[in-house]
Amino acid sequence: MAIREIIEDETFLRKKSRDVVVFDKRLHTLLDDMAHTLRDVNGVGIAAPQVGVLRRVVLINETGEPEDLLELINPVVIEASEEIQDDAEGCLSFPGEYGMVERPMHVKVRAQNRSGDLIILEGEGLKARAFCHEIDHLNGELFIEKASRMLDPEEFEERKKNRK
Ligand code: CO
Repeated sequence: MAIREIIEDETFLRKKSRDVVVFDKRLHTLLDDMAHTLRDVNGVGIAAPQVGVLRRVVLINETGEPEDLLELINPVVIEASEEIQDDAEGCLSFPGEYGMVERPMHVKVRAQNRSGDLIILEGEGLKARAFCHEIDHLNGELFIEKASRMLDPEEFEERKKNRK
């Protein structure tokens, strides 16, 4: 496993990723490296384009615990609640930048696991937000456009504190 460099180049991040069609060793190495990279920066989620690979691969780890790591290949949101959450959001590719972004409170996602088997996942709150944010990355969409306003780091820390 290796830690990969996190891409901050917006021009690259705006490119659209392609479906994964081959579930081979190379994919597994990518997944393992992304997991290592995500853990290294203590992040909630990471998408393959953020490590320079334009493939539809996403990792989510809402709690930071290794057993809670989710691997999603070719993920699609198949259900989203009408109920909305409006909260602070950040991105590993935009260190120190946070914005208020509206997301569905609850989403259901269809994806494949590392073997290519179909999986259905559900997320609420922060997990739903992470699903939406990371899947956006695969379409070249960035949170900075979706934010109703940006927050300064102090305001973000304050919000984080109050959430607990
Ligand atoms: Co991001």
